[in-house]
Amino acid sequence: MPRHVAVIMDGNGRWARRRHWNRVRGHREGIESVRALVRAARDSGVRFLTVYAFSTENWGRPDREVQALMGLLRRFLQVEVPELKGKGVRVRSIGDIARLPPDARETLAWAEAETAACGDLDLCLALSYGGRQEILQAVRRCLSDGVTADALDEDALRSRLYAPDIPDPDLLIRTSGELRVSNFLLWQLAYTEIYVTDTLWPEFREEQFREALASYRQRARRFGLTDEQCAGGRQA
Ligand code: FPP
Repeated sequence: MPRHVAVIMDGNGRWARRRHWNRVRGHREGIESVRALVRAARDSGVRFLTVYAFSTENWGRPDREVQALMGLLRRFLQVEVPELKGKGVRVRSIGDIARLPPDARETLAWAEAETAACGDLDLCLALSYGGRQEILQAVRRCLSDGVTADALDEDALRSRLYAPDIPDPDLLIRTSGELRVSNFLLWQLAYTEIYVTDTLWPEFREEQFREALASYRQRARRFGLTDEQCAGGRQA
C-alpha cells in the first residue's frame, strides 16, 4: 500500500463542457470526487494524501473561475471539517498560502487548527502551489539561514520545503489522460510511480482509486538499484 498518494485532479472543465455546462460546475462535481477520494484513501490505510487543488499558474484563469474555486475551497472546508475531524483526518496545506484571499486563508487556518490533533490521514491541499516556487523559496531560506555552498545538500534543501515531514509520494495519480507533471511536487516526485487514467476528475471515484492502487501494487520499485540488489533485501 502506498504511504503517500499525490493526485493531479484534472479534467473538471472538459467534464462540464461535454455537457454544455459552465466550467465551475465541473469543479463543483470535482469536490464530490475529493470527498470520495479522502474516504477511500483513509479506508485503504494510506497515511498521506496530497491533492493539487490550485496551482500558481491557475491565478491566470478568468477572475470568475478563480473566485469560484476559492469559494468552493471555503465551502468544502466549512462543510467537511467536522466529518474529517471525526474520521481522524488532518487538514494541511502547501503553497504560497499568503496569496489566497483573506477569507479563504482564515478558513484554511481554522481547518488546520481544528484537525491538528488528527493522525489517521493527512490531507494536504496544494494551494497556490508550484514546484519551482517551492524549490526557489527553499533555496532562498537556505541563503537567509546562512547555509554555505559546502553545507548545501539534499537534507538542507529538503528541510526547507513546505512540508518536510511528509515523505515523498509513492504514487502519483493524474486524471484526464495528460502525460505531464504540471509543476507539481517537482522535488518530491523523483522516484514516484506514476499512474495516468483517461477518466476525468469528476468521474474519478472509489472504484477508480482502487484501480490505481491495484496498478501500483504491480510495480517493482528499484530506486535506481538492480533487480538483484532489490531481491537481496535492500529498499525496493
Ligand atoms: C483541473 O481541471 C482542476 C483544477 C484546476 C482545480 C481542482 C479543484 C477541484 C477539484 C475543486 C476544489 C478542490 C478542493 C480540495 C476544495 P481543469 O479545470 O484544468 O479541467 P480541464 O483541463 O478539463 O479544463
